Amino acid sequence: MESPFKPDILRDKVALLTGGGSGIGYEIALQLGKHGALIAIMGRRKHVLDSAVASLHILGIPAIGLVGDVRRRDDAVKTLESTVRHFGRLDILVNAAAGNFLVAPEDLSPNGFRTVLDIDSVGTFTMCHEALKYLKKGGQGKDPATGGTIINISATLHYTATWYQIHVSAAKAAVDSITRSLALEWGTDYDIRVNGIAPGPIGDTAGFSKLAPDEILREAKEKMPLDRLGEKWDIAMAAVYLTSDAGKYVNGTTLVVDGGDWLHKPRH
Ligand code: HXC
Repeated sequence: MESPFKPDILRDKVALLTGGGSGIGYEIALQLGKHGALIAIMGRRKHVLDSAVASLHILGIPAIGLVGDVRRRDDAVKTLESTVRHFGRLDILVNAAAGNFLVAPEDLSPNGFRTVLDIDSVGTFTMCHEALKYLKKGGQGKDPATGGTIINISATLHYTATWYQIHVSAAKAAVDSITRSLALEWGTDYDIRVNGIAPGPIGDTAGFSKLAPDEILREAKEKMPLDRLGEKWDIAMAAVYLTSDAGKYVNGTTLVVDGGDWLHKPRH
C-alpha cells in the first residue's frame, strides 16, 4: 500500500533495527528506508540478514546487516560501533527482536521464562543502554541540541492476561515500563524521545503463525472491532510517524495498533 507520508520525511536519518531481518522488524526497516533513512539491521541469522539487505538494496535503500544477539552485551556494543562507523551517526533505534512460544505456565521452566525476558526486556534495555552515547544530543555525529529517538516493539498481551503467554506478557510489561522510564529520564537529560508500539494480531508474521492456530483465528475474527487482521505495514506506518518530526512531541507513549482488538467485550 502507498504511504501517506512524504518520501523524504526521514531523509539521511540513520536507523538501527534489532530483529530487522524478518517480520515486523523488516517491514519497519523497509518503510523507514522508503522514507529516506539509512538502515542497519541486526539479527542472529546471517542468511536472513543477507536476503533482507539484498531486498533493501534492490529498492535503492542504503543498508547493512550485522550479525548479533541482543542477549550479548558485546554484540550490542559491536553492532552499534559498526553502524556508526558505516553511516557516521545514529538517529533511530528500533528494538524489534523478540522470542516467543506458546506454553502453559506449569510446563514452562524458569529458564524458558528467563530466556524470553532476556531477549525482549533485558535485550531492549541493553541496546538502549549501549546506544545512549550515540543517540544523545551532541553524541557522535549529532547536533549539539537534538537527540535521537527509540521505538520499543511491545504487545497488548499484558493489558489483561493471555493464555500460554505468561513469559511474553511479563517481558512486554517490562518493555513498556522501560519505555516510560527512559522517556522521562533521557528525554530530560539527553533530548531522546522514547516510545513503544503495541501491535495487535498482524497476519503474515512468524509470531502470528506460531501463536494463532486456525480456530483461534476464526474466533478472534468474530470478535475484532474492525473485523480484520492488521498488516505489517500498519505497524511500520506508526514507526514512521513516531520517528519523524510528525511525532516530535510524543514521548513515553506506547501506541496501540490493533484495530481496537484488546478492548473487545461482548455486546451483552
Ligand atoms: C516450552 C520452551 C520452548 C517451548 C524453548 N523453551 N522453547 N519451553 N515450550 N516451545 C525453553 C527451553 O526448554 C529452555 O529451557 C529455554 O526455553 C531456552 O530454550 P533454547 O531453545 O535454548 O533457547 P534459544 O535457542 O535461545 O531460543 C529462544 C526462543 C526461540 C525464544 C526459545 O523460540 C526464539 O529465539 N525465537 C525467536 C523468533 C520468534 O519467536 N519471533 C517471533 C516473536 S513474536 P530449559 O529449562 O529446558 O533449559 C512476538 C509477538 C508477541 O514476540 C505478541 C503476539 C501477539
